[in-house]
Amino acid sequence: MKVKISPSILGGSFSNMEKIISDLDQSNAEYIHFDVMDGDFVPNLTFGPQFISDLRSKTKKIFDVHLMINRVTNSLKDYINAGSDIITFHYEIDENLNEIISEIKKNNIKAGIAIKPGTSWEDIKKYLNLIDQVIIMTVEPGFGGQSFMHDQIKKIENICHYIKENNLNVDIEIDGGVNYETGELCITAGASILVAGSFLFKQDDLTLATNKLKDYFN
Ligand code: DX5
Ligand code: ZN
Repeated sequence: MKVKISPSILGGSFSNMEKIISDLDQSNAEYIHFDVMDGDFVPNLTFGPQFISDLRSKTKKIFDVHLMINRVTNSLKDYINAGSDIITFHYEIDENLNEIISEIKKNNIKAGIAIKPGTSWEDIKKYLNLIDQVIIMTVEPGFGGQSFMHDQIKKIENICHYIKENNLNVDIEIDGGVNYETGELCITAGASILVAGSFLFKQDDLTLATNKLKDYFN
């Protein structure tokens, strides 16, 4: 199985974004991960659709957009029009998830559901035949640079088992505290996409760091 890497630009400085996108464009990462935060669903606030749209012309990499926001229905069109390739929203929001999924899919964009560490994987069972990826959060959403929560491994194993058993076509992406060691545990448990922020950005050469992480698992 091929492991994909989705570097999270939240790990870098927003003052340097064009260079970051160019470094990632030259890397072997398949995705670029965008963490949208609204200061409501999570305490932190990052950027909106304009930011994504402004970077769209700089690379052909897959834009993996992770919405940590409430009122997804209100702004979904803007994230679709910004050039997202995958849009993942949170299960814990208080909205009609089926409608959100069908709006995303109608626009030929991949749809994902993310779950916080405290949410059971069984809560999203009924959506798994409708979506393309799940994000299992291995930190509390809101900030980069947190420590990986090892108690989430069982959840990855369980959802992977269910996906395989039911022949579903859903990728498991892991978000939070990923490095060589924790990434290995997740891949062994059944994940196929790893988001990595601070681990990549604390190294001197972002392109090289990304390639090394990718090579490690492939
Ligand atoms: C956290 C974000 C993550 C974050 C990962 O809420 O969803 O994508 O950027 O950063 P690291 O890899 O530093 O945990
Ligand atoms: Zn994320």
